[in-house]
Amino acid sequence: MNKHQEEHTGVLESVLRRCDALGLDSWLLDQTAGFIVQPGAPAHGCEVVRAARAALARPAPHEPVPVLIGPEEWAVPLVGPCGRVLVVRCGAGLSPARLCVFLREMADDLDRQIRDAGLLHDFSGKLMQSYEETYTLFRIMRFMASSAEPLQQMRMVCGNVHQILPFGWVCVVFRDDPRVVDDLRGAVVVCGECPIAKADREKMIAQMAATASEDGWTKVHPPGSCQLAKACGSEIVCDPITYDGAVIGMLLAGNKGGADPEVASPEMQFIDAVADFLGTFHENLARFSEQRAMSIGTLQALTAAIDAKDAYTRGHSQRVAFLSQSIASAMGMGPDHAERVRIAGLVHDVGKIGVPEAILCKAGKLTDEEFAMIRRHPEIGHGILKGIVLLEDTLPGVLHHHERWDGRGYPHGLKGEEIPLVARMIGLADTFDAMSSSRSYRPAMPREKVLAEIERCSGTQFDPTIVAAFGRVDLSQYDAILQQQHDAEMAGHRRAA
Ligand SMILES: [Fe+2]
Repeated sequence: MNKHQEEHTGVLESVLRRCDALGLDSWLLDQTAGFIVQPGAPAHGCEVVRAARAALARPAPHEPVPVLIGPEEWAVPLVGPCGRVLVVRCGAGLSPARLCVFLREMADDLDRQIRDAGLLHDFSGKLMQSYEETYTLFRIMRFMASSAEPLQQMRMVCGNVHQILPFGWVCVVFRDDPRVVDDLRGAVVVCGECPIAKADREKMIAQMAATASEDGWTKVHPPGSCQLAKACGSEIVCDPITYDGAVIGMLLAGNKGGADPEVASPEMQFIDAVADFLGTFHENLARFSEQRAMSIGTLQALTAAIDAKDAYTRGHSQRVAFLSQSIASAMGMGPDHAERVRIAGLVHDVGKIGVPEAILCKAGKLTDEEFAMIRRHPEIGHGILKGIVLLEDTLPGVLHHHERWDGRGYPHGLKGEEIPLVARMIGLADTFDAMSSSRSYRPAMPREKVLAEIERCSGTQFDPTIVAAFGRVDLSQYDAILQQQHDAEMAGHRRAA
């Protein structure tokens, strides 16, 4: 019995109850159950069944026509779907024709009422689903604006789409393509239960992402139409994530559950909207990353220019940046944190821009006044960088990289753990590099001597924990940078000659 037939059967039962309330004898007959009469068989049961059969045999069975069943006694049948017939007895004093009109109108009214209630119910269900989808989109948008890791944001998007739509699983995949930002390149995030084993699934999805053609994109893959749809045994929705007009990833969903296994239009619209969000999200990440790379490039050029004021400090900032990052990693900091330490190391001496070249490059002994000017470079650097949001977390390293563990450093004479950790790391990296390279006042010291000096100063100039971490740093890469910078300088000299 379909939904409409069920509703109509409900109409006949309602008419039966109303007839009963009006004191009219009435019965509901069910043809499929062999014309069982409800409720109870009437005294003239044969006539009632005969009237029902006569009605069903007529060319227009739904129009009630009275059947004479006795002297001044009629049976008026009202036919419903599925062979159910309501029969109402029309005795003396009642007009059978009027009873027919009355029954027909009552049935039509009830039918309309039930249909309207059904429409309202459907509409309110759709409205509720739309509200939930809109709210989910809002939640996704808000989370994408947060500072969480991009991969974690993808997991959240996947989880929310899976929660709101009746799919068995949802997946976000980004192509292994240089246009995709580093954090998301080649990433595959799946939420829900996919009937394929993880390794096979990831292989199929990555292959699908790599080979999907931008022209004539197929949004719904019927079961069996591609490797993934075949393995899942269901339709696969596949919406492209784009960046600068090119497809860089996909939002996939499959194994739809519920009464209707076919993907519906509102579900497609929702998936479309989320895929668009993901495209915008990636674009923001890419633009931010470009901007950051540009800013870091500018900083590198600036610090290199400052280092170049003195021939003996060329490449110093880049090497200190590398060593600071290596110490941070050796201390167990994650890649993001270590990268921030690297940037702080890169800009630690930016304040030297405010120190005259004649003082920075002076070969002889510095006067007290000249020495005082050099000692001002951490505060000058701090003053230069403090308005730049991107470099906010480098400020403690810039200001305090000349403090000493025993409190005899500058500018504030901070002691022990009062000195920010990043400044303690840069302080050691700075001293190591200064001793390892030639200066205007002395040649480079041998490696063993430098390491012995660092060890000797542990607990006085340096934090012992950082000295221990430095002992775990592989210095071969540092030596490679030193050699590379030396070769580049020699090549420059040859070109100039
Ligand atoms: Fe410095």
